[in-house]
Amino acid sequence: MFDDKSWYKEAVFYELYVRAYKDGNNDGQGDLRGVIQKLDYLQELGIDCIWLLPIFPSPLKDDGYDINDYYGILPDYGSLEDFRDLVSGVHAREMRIILDLVINHTSIQHPWFQKARLDRNSPYRNYYVWSDSNTKYAKARIIFIDSEKSNWTWDEVAKQYYWHRFYSSQPDLNYDNPEVRAEILKIMQYWLDIGVDGFRVDAVPYLFEREDTNCENLPETHAFLKEMRRFIEKNYPGRILLCEANQLPRDIRGYFGDGDEFQMAFHFPLMPRLFMALKQGSFQPIEEVLEKTLPIPEGCQWCIFLRNHDELTLEMVSVEEREWMWHHYAPESRMRLNLGIRRRLAPLLDNNQQKIELAYSLLFTLPGSPVLYYGDEIGLGDNIWLDDRDGLRTPMQWEPVAGAGFSEIQPGKFFNPILDNLDYRPERLCVSIQIKDENSLLNRVRRMIKVRKKHPELGSGDFRWVSSDNPSVAAYWRTFGDHKMLVVQNLSALATAAHLSIGETIPIVAEDLIWGKSIFFQNDQIVDLDLTPFQYFWFEIPFHLN
Ligand code: NOJ
Repeated sequence: MFDDKSWYKEAVFYELYVRAYKDGNNDGQGDLRGVIQKLDYLQELGIDCIWLLPIFPSPLKDDGYDINDYYGILPDYGSLEDFRDLVSGVHAREMRIILDLVINHTSIQHPWFQKARLDRNSPYRNYYVWSDSNTKYAKARIIFIDSEKSNWTWDEVAKQYYWHRFYSSQPDLNYDNPEVRAEILKIMQYWLDIGVDGFRVDAVPYLFEREDTNCENLPETHAFLKEMRRFIEKNYPGRILLCEANQLPRDIRGYFGDGDEFQMAFHFPLMPRLFMALKQGSFQPIEEVLEKTLPIPEGCQWCIFLRNHDELTLEMVSVEEREWMWHHYAPESRMRLNLGIRRRLAPLLDNNQQKIELAYSLLFTLPGSPVLYYGDEIGLGDNIWLDDRDGLRTPMQWEPVAGAGFSEIQPGKFFNPILDNLDYRPERLCVSIQIKDENSLLNRVRRMIKVRKKHPELGSGDFRWVSSDNPSVAAYWRTFGDHKMLVVQNLSALATAAHLSIGETIPIVAEDLIWGKSIFFQNDQIVDLDLTPFQYFWFEIPFHLN
């Protein structure tokens, strides 16, 4: 796979927050040296590509999504030399690494903005979007509704309003200015030359603004994104662009273009439906969203995920669905943030291992490349009492000791406190305990990844539902050439029986790849199976018996 230009279609991604992962110099903050120490762990887990949250100099008002300097490394995280070592370490293990490319906005502290606000005649003035009034682009929604009242903020120094789609400390760049567009290509070139394998491109729908539109997904935005792709294709073939666009299915589809824009895009609409399905014990929400998911061009792939570093977003569901999700998954107001839920995977799924495993079974078998969020492979908890989204970004737990093996310094000096909830504290929940236990979540996730990697049908294969008379049983085929897998999952908390119309002649005996269980199938194209709560099977159908 390492030389394959379509590597991303079958890759397993891992989202890693450097500050929280491993402290290499014992100052209480994770850093690049710390990540290097953990590369063997990631390789053993079966990760193909690491995605690093922003690592650039930043005042950290938005955890690094507010950049001061696109060409440096945040000193707390280390040096450029450390980064080069990390890239070599990753590649030596035949893994890949992508960076977050934050192109919609900079930090207010970026020298471009500082020069722009001081001098109307500075060439940097036109790097940002200014206005004498705060009434332009009134149709654009506010995204961080808990903290921002307007997309315009008055700047006393510049004596004008500036435009921002996120925090007011993150002024939007002006994409109508060709110099801004050239700067972005230059930044890409710099990191690609160092050896990164691509970028997760942040907040792409909002690059351009046009009056009387919602200023999202505009044709001008797509045109520039295509230019970024052309630049990659021409100079760095095999590197990828992954799109972060929290939009409706048809709008996200637009970011694949005709196969000439992004190779990958996050499937935002699928994610909340997975949680709906698990709570309702019914595959219907998944079926509905997959029906609305338009086919994507050859060479493109979805990135699917359960959780990430942000609140579980409910921007793209109906008002009723949002209320339903809040009611079931965020009963306390502290659990809610903006239009979402600031909780991690394990607490959302009642810390029920069988249910969490089932969620992973869906993640690894539905169409798309899976992205794991650091810590979720061991079922890390959260801390809703911390600010903003910090509660989802607590230190990774490696060892069953007070500092969790994250750092040697006293835990009181950590950038964020270690979880002290009885279920989630490191003495109870950490990597080293789970490695030794063959039934741990970590080992189950590892097993699923291992199987997935041997089965290209799960990465590149076709997907087809198997008709089931029981809404709790999500069953489907994944097929690719001679490879064929039948996935059967009980989404409900109750034991159930599935009566599946397979729709074709199948072999007499099929082996489940996770549990090693063999199942007898009758040759009348109907399969009867008993499933325990949240049970899942991945049956391999040997091709010579087809
Ligand atoms: C999307 C990122 O995922 C989020 O963490 C950040 O706050 C916004 N972009 C703004 O940069």
